[in-house]
Amino acid sequence: MLNIALFGPPGAGKGTQSEFLINKYKLFYISTGDILRKEIQEESKLGLEAKNIIEKGGLASDEIIVQIIEKTIKDNPEANGFLFDGFPRTKIQAYILSGLMIKLNTTLNRLISIEVPEEVSTKRLMERGKTSGRSDDNEDVIRNRLREYNKKTLPVLDFYKDKNVLSIVDGTQTIEQVTADLTNIIEEELNKNLLNIVMFGYPGSGRGTQAKALAKKYGLEYIAAGNMLEEEIKKGTEIGKEIKELYDNGQLVPDEIVVPLIENKIENSKQAKGFIFKGFPRTLVQSYILEGILKKHGLSITKMYELEVSPFELVKRLEYRRKQQYAKSYDSSTAKILYRLEQHENTTVKVIKRYRKTHDVVKINGMDTIENVFAKITEDIETGAKNLR
Ligand code: AP5
Ligand code: MG
Repeated sequence: MLNIALFGPPGAGKGTQSEFLINKYKLFYISTGDILRKEIQEESKLGLEAKNIIEKGGLASDEIIVQIIEKTIKDNPEANGFLFDGFPRTKIQAYILSGLMIKLNTTLNRLISIEVPEEVSTKRLMERGKTSGRSDDNEDVIRNRLREYNKKTLPVLDFYKDKNVLSIVDGTQTIEQVTADLTNIIEEELNKNLLNIVMFGYPGSGRGTQAKALAKKYGLEYIAAGNMLEEEIKKGTEIGKEIKELYDNGQLVPDEIVVPLIENKIENSKQAKGFIFKGFPRTLVQSYILEGILKKHGLSITKMYELEVSPFELVKRLEYRRKQQYAKSYDSSTAKILYRLEQHENTTVKVIKRYRKTHDVVKINGMDTIENVFAKITEDIETGAKNLR
């Protein structure tokens, strides 16, 4: 998801720019001003409540706004993302927006403030007033709107200042120049770690093979807990020795060892276009940890896949690998292979179930050839990405 809020005084050009952005990025447009005007026109209960305030240039109550926003978001669960115009407009609304984003398992990517001085706003709105039919486009009301903006809306910027989501654009430029600035900001956002994939599946389902190929294709950092642990074993570090012993007994490595390794990797992969996790999260605790780590870095999971392969095929594949040169240290005997399959069944399946409640965990039939499975996953990824661009 890509969520953008356009911020700025009346007449900054929020509405003008929105038209272009919603077409280009296929975002769902939420203009609280437009919605309120429609409610007023329809003489709905909400509209009647807000009418007087708006006509005087004041701000509608946060209670009214939260109802509007919540309803609009709920009615559009398929949206690729939202473009907010004229919201959040008070500090309370900024808190409300954070809460709604958490509920949707997403974040506000950017709040873009389009800055213009009061004289410019006033001049533009007076001009617009000649044809807009908006009852608030007259000198007295414009003055009030600006006063409200300075008093209640500008402080919203404090809320975002430290969160690394605020961008500023000079709104006195031509419409085209402002559009170009906005597009640059959004493109940069899209190129950030936007694709964070978790790859689920039983041992032997092809998770590693697919995850590595996806990492290569999309410039993602491949984060495989197992590989990192093996590296430690190979390096013969103290941690490595500890891990080896656990492995030899077919035990899970404790989170105190796994988590710092993963966090380190995320911190040191700022260039990546995203991350692909394999073999992590493996337990419910790890699923909470992953959310915590991602949140800390302003990231969220964008895609989850579960490769489905029949138990017989899993055993066949793992037994075959066991006898090869490239056999993994953790599949050195049939007993160990079965133990790993069982552990997945007993612990990781619960994690997938939990995610099913909050995310769309896409099932992929893994019984096909490596190439065909890869094609199915990339097709799914690209439908989402295409919708955004
Ligand atoms: P709202 O509809 O949001 O109005 P506003 O914030 O006052 O902003 P405008 O729509 O007037 O300006 P805009 O930035 O969209 O500029 P535009 O693109 O049209 O809200 C209306 C009322 O509803 C509020 O006063 C409040 O009462 C209530 N309300 C709404 N949301 C609320 C909330 N969250 N909480 C509480 N109350 C809420 O451009 C203006 C003109 O300039 C146009 O004619 C355009 O062609 C021109 N123009 C644009 N860009 C340029 C440019 N670069 N160069 C030259 N001309 C330009
Ligand atoms: Mg507008």
